[in-house]
Amino acid sequence: MENSSLDLAQIFEPIRADLAKVDREFAHHIQSHVDLIPKIGQYIQTSGGKRIRPAVLLMAARLSGYDGDRAILYAAVVEFIHTATLVHDDIIDDSDLRRGRLAVHSRWGNDITVLLGDYLYIKSMGMALTVDSLELVRLLCEVTCRMIEGELYQLTKTGVVDLTEEEHLEIIRRKTAYLFGGCGQIGGILGGLSETQQLALRDYGFNLGVAFQLVDDVLDYTADEDVLGKPVGGDIREGKMTLPAIYLLQKDSDRARPLLTSLVQDRSFSAAAWTELRGLMTEHRVLDQAYARAVSFAETAKNELSSFPPSQEIDALMALPDYVVSRDR
Ligand code: IPE
Ligand code: IPE
Ligand code: MG
Ligand code: MG
Repeated sequence: MENSSLDLAQIFEPIRADLAKVDREFAHHIQSHVDLIPKIGQYIQTSGGKRIRPAVLLMAARLSGYDGDRAILYAAVVEFIHTATLVHDDIIDDSDLRRGRLAVHSRWGNDITVLLGDYLYIKSMGMALTVDSLELVRLLCEVTCRMIEGELYQLTKTGVVDLTEEEHLEIIRRKTAYLFGGCGQIGGILGGLSETQQLALRDYGFNLGVAFQLVDDVLDYTADEDVLGKPVGGDIREGKMTLPAIYLLQKDSDRARPLLTSLVQDRSFSAAAWTELRGLMTEHRVLDQAYARAVSFAETAKNELSSFPPSQEIDALMALPDYVVSRDR
């Protein structure tokens, strides 16, 4: 199922210098007289995130013919937003490990982590406001609100065994896909593309984002924790139904319902229950089924690019969905 031959560094080679600038921009904006902010900021920044969102923005901007510095700033902005979400999300999910290190809340506690996340969110908007495009600030506010709505909506569905596939996709679109879509669209706006082409880049990012989260949900069952850098089995432990569990309930309700009720609704996680669940999932091939769904969103993402002429950036953007579905981290 997994094949990690696609190397992210290779895909990002055309924008390597720009990504380094994004990192410098990020480091610059976490400076503060309150030492804790650069200290934690640096801890997060050097922990090895994949930088997929800034990369999408940069490649979309380049593809659109834009080569100015605003792409660097906006790429740093989306990484700030993403980082803020992660530190808050790990508190919400009670998840102790992030990028192979202690999550920020596990090291500094919840109080500091909530405020640090707030700081990153507000700072990101402040950064976006340093250039005179309210259109882009509005877009960033919108996708960030969708993301928070997605996290909230997901919380209202925690413990719900009968979550439907459509409800789950709604969670995913909001919490993950809109930001990816915004990255594509901002690139297109910077390059002054036609509305149609901007929307194609937005929809590329959006479908890539859905695929990305669906794979994240599969990896939560299949990954090697040391490689993934975050806990495996976290979703079910936290009472969250994702596609593999939704499909399992559809395929074998007799055996899956009591098990999922005890895991998801009653939150009684045990090694034995986990082994049983994984066994049923293997038997009914639901991880493959969920993975196939991710692949179909990745294909849709690629199709959105069909109207663009060949270029180095198109090659990279076309390779990224393949990476996303073959990744192991
Ligand atoms: C994690 O995102 C959050 C999800 C949307 C699943 P990434 O997997 O992009 O996180 P980093 O930045 O590479 O650590
Ligand atoms: C959260 O999804 C995605 C966000 C928008 C933060 P997950 O909770 O599955 O992300 P991970 O697995 O903690 O990275
Ligand atoms: Mg989480
Ligand atoms: Mg996850």
